[in-house]
Amino acid sequence: MSNTNASPYGTLPPASPVAVRKPISLPRLNELRARGEKITMLTAYDATFAAVADAAGVECILVGDSLGMVCQGLTSTVGVTLDTMRYHVESVARGIRRVQGTTWIIGDLPFGSYQESKEQALRSATVLMQAGAHMVKLEGGGWTTEVVHFLVERGIPVCAHLGLTPQTVHALGGYRVQGRDDAGAAQLRQEALALQDAGAAMVVLEMVPEALSTALTHELPRSHTIGIGAGNGTAGQVLVMHDMLGVNLGKNPKFVRNFMLGQASVQAAMAAYVAAVKDGSFPVNAEHAW
Ligand code: KIV
Repeated sequence: MSNTNASPYGTLPPASPVAVRKPISLPRLNELRARGEKITMLTAYDATFAAVADAAGVECILVGDSLGMVCQGLTSTVGVTLDTMRYHVESVARGIRRVQGTTWIIGDLPFGSYQESKEQALRSATVLMQAGAHMVKLEGGGWTTEVVHFLVERGIPVCAHLGLTPQTVHALGGYRVQGRDDAGAAQLRQEALALQDAGAAMVVLEMVPEALSTALTHELPRSHTIGIGAGNGTAGQVLVMHDMLGVNLGKNPKFVRNFMLGQASVQAAMAAYVAAVKDGSFPVNAEHAW
């Protein structure tokens, strides 16, 4: 008998097909890493895509401020506000709850929401945690170490973000590979080690040479390295969902693979991404890295 009360739009089943999976938590991510299994992460910004990513077996959803580009049509992430981030984290968390999903949700702290003081960072992180995030992410090293320590001490898991940090694109002079020369690599290494000591449980390494991110992965046993354009030696991988589904009119950066090719559904494409990260066939250093 059909359910006449069912919504005609974007139905979500009551339980995720991967409900048998244990809920993803920090200890669970540590377990994956300890047995050499790669951690998978994708961005998502709304309830339906988040639920589909959960059903495809993705372990971590990053509600990234990349939504400024892919949802809001901005030219950088600088214009994204905390209120916008709260809205999207809430939508993702609701989608995951509706399918009784198990995914770990990371909320990105936007530009201007943590730079002023550690107290401001705590207030902003609280907004995203109360919206349903399990962890917050913030960009940069050096001055952020103190902020990370402050948040972690107060029970907020933190993911750091080094290498290309898009919120500071204007200071960096463009979207460029970071840590290429000896001085840049040494600074990145020093910042990453300090962030691990401050308690960052994860660190996104964006557009960093493969040799450096692989070395850092060995040096950071307590801070799981998640690469994007950083080669296949990291503890996990992340891609922006729209890019890996080929949903854009522009040219993808070289570190992206279009996982939609040859797949009949978005869920199948996401499952193919999970499989390729887990079996080490994505990324390919010669093709996707520096
Ligand atoms: O905002 C975002 O989606 C990100 C990823 C590209 C890592 O920070």
